[in-house]
Amino acid sequence: MTIELVTDRLVLRPLAPEDFEPHAAMMADPRVARFLTPDRSPQARPAAWRAFASMIGHWPMRGFGFFSAFERSGGQWVGRVGPWMPEGWPGLECGWGVAPAHWGKGYAGEAAIAAIRWVFDLKPDLPRIISLIDPLNEKSQAVARKVGETRTAERFRFDENTTLDVWAADRKAWLKRFG
Ligand SMILES: CC(C)(COP(=O)(O)OP(=O)(O)OC[C@H]1O[C@@H](n2cnc3c(N)ncnc32)[C@H](O)[C@@H]1OP(=O)(O)O)[C@@H](O)C(=O)NCCC(=O)NCCS
Repeated sequence: MTIELVTDRLVLRPLAPEDFEPHAAMMADPRVARFLTPDRSPQARPAAWRAFASMIGHWPMRGFGFFSAFERSGGQWVGRVGPWMPEGWPGLECGWGVAPAHWGKGYAGEAAIAAIRWVFDLKPDLPRIISLIDPLNEKSQAVARKVGETRTAERFRFDENTTLDVWAADRKAWLKRFG
């Protein structure tokens, strides 16, 4: 079964091997890498490939995963957005990363709302969705607010250099607002 989510301006479908090139280009950009790679440095292609392969593999292992978002007009690849819960994660996260050429258009939030709705529907017992956000990442915090999440008092220590804020939205309130 093909999964496809359609919003006003975007089409989302599960991340697929053919998305590697635009995804690698996004991860090689220092503005994106600052908040999305483990060492905060632009990702070289070998590391980008390994990370990308794990995101593709997340789909069969968990039954959900990142979506690629494309502009409906013109079909350009915009970014990766969606549910993600690798081993050791503090909850089911909705993550977002948008290619800088498409920043500032509200795409991350538009895609995230569709992805969160999809995952709440897929998992009727899921009590909340979280996002793990660096305290310095103001743009991502703005996206989190727009998609109905608030900053909790919880922190997630990703590694010795990075502790992330846990933002969250409770299922019931979220569905009332966006469902
Ligand atoms: C975070 C990211 C996904 C946002 O994508 P986007 O599609 O540009 O998001 P939006 O267009 O909705 O803009 C985000 C909001 O940030 C606001 N913003 C922009 N620059 C800002 C700044 N310097 N400080 C605070 N807010 C800022 C915008 O005004 C917008 O809010 P608004 O719509 O209420 O005006 C994108 O910047 C990105 O991929 N960054 C690198 C990777 C990353 O940080 N991922 C998230 C990890 S938790």
